Amino acid sequence: MQQGDFDFGRLSRFPDVESPDLVAVDATDRLVLDTAADLLIASEPGEVVVLGDRHGAMALGAWGLHGARGVRVHQDALLGERAGLRNAVATGAEGEVTWLPFGAELLRGARVVLVQLPRALAELNEWAAAIVRYSASDVTVVAGGRIKHMSLGMNDVLRRYFDRVDVGHARQKSRVLMATGARPVQDPRSAPPEPVEVPAAELPGGSVRVVALGGVFAGTSLDIGTRALLAHLDSYADATDVIDLGCGSGIIASAVALARPAARVTGIDQSTAAVASTLATAEANGVVDRVAAVREDGLAQRPDRSADLILCNPPFHTGAVISEQLAARMLRDSRRVLRPGGEVWTVYNSALRYRLMLEKLIGPTEEMSRSPKFTVTRSRLR
Ligand SMILES: C[S@@+](CC[C@H](N)C(=O)[O-])C[C@H]1O[C@@H](n2cnc3c(N)ncnc32)[C@H](O)[C@@H]1O
Repeated sequence: MQQGDFDFGRLSRFPDVESPDLVAVDATDRLVLDTAADLLIASEPGEVVVLGDRHGAMALGAWGLHGARGVRVHQDALLGERAGLRNAVATGAEGEVTWLPFGAELLRGARVVLVQLPRALAELNEWAAAIVRYSASDVTVVAGGRIKHMSLGMNDVLRRYFDRVDVGHARQKSRVLMATGARPVQDPRSAPPEPVEVPAAELPGGSVRVVALGGVFAGTSLDIGTRALLAHLDSYADATDVIDLGCGSGIIASAVALARPAARVTGIDQSTAAVASTLATAEANGVVDRVAAVREDGLAQRPDRSADLILCNPPFHTGAVISEQLAARMLRDSRRVLRPGGEVWTVYNSALRYRLMLEKLIGPTEEMSRSPKFTVTRSRLR
């Protein structure tokens, strides 16, 4: 491919949520690629890494626009990673762009690291600590974000690990931070996260110790929707096999395993950080022998008739868009996966109309509690 000859129009979000308001490449991707152009053109094969690339636009743009070769990418979300892989095939970049788990293999020897800034400062801290630990000492980080989601705290995080952080001009509501002068510091914030106790006063089944990696939903705190769902812990059906669907930190998985000594719980999440956190949380509560965690898209990989109880606090948002597609996608295979008499319990924002969807996907659905904010439902297999 000729340098500069790359059609972003061929990129798609599929199989991630699609809607007219959502795009596969945004102004931040383009600004980061333009800012890093000279570095990318001068890079040798294997020197470019991309962190948080949503659907592969940065990695594929680095290759297609600026000739970067052997680009390594990390994307925490499985659906984003799958979209990136499909986009690589669609644009002929197979073999030039590789998706890897977060860690040494991803970052070793990198000299240019492109970043879609994560929302959570803790996640940015993890990324910056790993960059200075594993990358080349002359690494340059070009990190971009939507200005409305950026904070001065991001500059502070980068300054912990880099001598110099330059703030670029804004363009189309995006901005770039450029960090150079890596300092391999021993920052206590880069140590593995410690368990934090959510006290029994907040959880009917007793206290739970929670471990959460940087980007995980709600971190180590108890989300108020999750609290509403766990308030019914004693009313869930008797169950041997339980699924914590969209497990995040794994707080639900461990709470159920602690309260039900005969239950085996499988946490499912599309996020690698969530899967690791769920296992760490189970370990911290002494229930890791009965809690498993897997990175999957909803229930798609679960065997038929393999669960008695599915618990789910689904996400409401993809970026700024509120979408029922997310809950529907996650719960879609419930009927196939549940055993006869099985139940799905879910919690959702009371303004959303999930009830019809639940009736259709699963079966008779009862409202078990409702506040102005959250509704908790139980659906029984018809
Ligand atoms: C609202 S959070 C709930 C997290 C956790 N259960 C809790 O209560 O704190 C929803 C979770 O669903 C996960 N998720 C989003 N889409 C998913 C999918 N298609 N398959 C599996 N998990 C998904 C997100 O990564 C997130 O961790």
